[in-house]
Amino acid sequence: MRTIARLFSAMIFLTITHMSCNNAPNKTEETQAATSSTAAAVTKQDFGQADGKPVSLFTLTNKKGIQVKITNYGGIITSWVVPDKSGGKSSIVLGFDSLSGYLAKPPYFGALVGRYGNRIAKGKFKIGDSSYTLATNNGKNALHGGVKGFDKQVWDAAFTDSVPALTLSYLSKDGEEGYPGNLKVTVVYTLSDDDELGIEYNATTDKPTVVNLTNHSYFNLTGNPSNTILNHVLKIDADAYTPVDASLIPTGVLQPVKGTPFDFTTPTAIGARIAQTGGNPVGYDHNFVLNNKDGSLKLAAVVTDSVSGRKLEVYTTQPGLQFYTGNFLDGSIKTSDGKPINKNAALCLETQHFPDSPNQPAFPSTVLKPGEQYHSITKYKLSVN
Ligand code: GLA
Repeated sequence: MRTIARLFSAMIFLTITHMSCNNAPNKTEETQAATSSTAAAVTKQDFGQADGKPVSLFTLTNKKGIQVKITNYGGIITSWVVPDKSGGKSSIVLGFDSLSGYLAKPPYFGALVGRYGNRIAKGKFKIGDSSYTLATNNGKNALHGGVKGFDKQVWDAAFTDSVPALTLSYLSKDGEEGYPGNLKVTVVYTLSDDDELGIEYNATTDKPTVVNLTNHSYFNLTGNPSNTILNHVLKIDADAYTPVDASLIPTGVLQPVKGTPFDFTTPTAIGARIAQTGGNPVGYDHNFVLNNKDGSLKLAAVVTDSVSGRKLEVYTTQPGLQFYTGNFLDGSIKTSDGKPINKNAALCLETQHFPDSPNQPAFPSTVLKPGEQYHSITKYKLSVN
C-alpha cells in the first residue's frame, strides 16, 4: 500500500520513539520534574481519569513560545495558541479546558481517529474470503472507528523535550469494534520552531486488517468560534473529489472539480458556493482526491483568514483530504466559556485514504498485512502575515 514507510521517514520515526518510548514515568519525565523551574519544551499535568486510568495534558512549547496542548485521552489536541497579525493570541482549534468536555463525546474535536477514519458502508467489508462486520454508529454505516474508536481510548504517553515531541501508543485488540488483528499504533506529535505541528502515524498488525488514521481538529483561524469560517479562503491541490450518496458513502466516481463548487484549485472563499454543495445539512463534507500521486509529503491545502492574518498550510503523504465545514454543529455544544458552537464555526481538513475504501477496489488500498508497516505523515504549518 502507498502508506508503507519510506526508509528515511521510518528512520526519523525510530529515532524519535527511541528517544521517548520508555515506560512511564520515563527518563524524560524524571528530568522534567527535576528541572521544572527552567523553560521546558514539554510539560505534563493531571487532566482527570477515564476508564479508571489517569489522563494527562501535555503542553508542547517551541522556542518561540508557541504552545500546543494534547491529552492522551483520544490523542486530542485541545488547544494551539498562536498570535494574530495584531499580536493578539488565541487558539485556532476547537477544544475544552477540562476532560469532562471530551467525555461528553463532542464530534471528534481534535481527536486521533481510527482504526478507520471516515465511513465504511453498512459496517461491512471483506479481505480475501473473510467477511467482517463492524460496530455501526452512523445510521447503517461505521464512522471513525465505531462506538468506541481511538478518539475515546486512553493512550500510553511518553515525551522528549529536545524536539519537542509527544509519542502516543495504543494497542487495538483483535476484534475491537469488529476489526480483525491486534493493531499496534504509535502516533508522534512534534512542534517545530517554525510552528509546524507534525503528526506521524505508524501501525503494525498480526492479521490482515484495514487502517485509516487521521486527526480531526476543527480549525477557526479567527480564534473565536463565534465567527464562522465562511470568509476563510481555501485552496486544495485536488483536481477531483469523491461524490457521495445520501449517507455520505462515495459513489465510486472520481469527479473532476472543474466547473463545480468543489473546485478549490485556486484560492476561494469557503462560503462563496457552499449553498450549492447539496447534502443535508448543506455544506462541504467530502473527500478530495489529492494530486499527490506518489505518497511523498506534499502541500495539500492552504487556508487563510484576512482578519487575523493567519495562514494554515496542510502537508501530507496521504492521497485524500476530507474537507468538512462543521455542518452538524448546531449550537448544542458549548465552548468552555459557555458560548454555543454553531454550524460552520470551524472546518476540518482530515488527511486520509478515501471513505469506504475497503469496499471500493478502485480506490487506493487501506489493507495492512502482517509484516507491513503503516506509515503516514501530516504537518499543519501556521504562519501570520
Ligand atoms: C467527519 C465526517 C462528518 C461528520 C464529522 C463528525 O468529518 O465526514 O460527516 O461525521 O466527521 O461530526
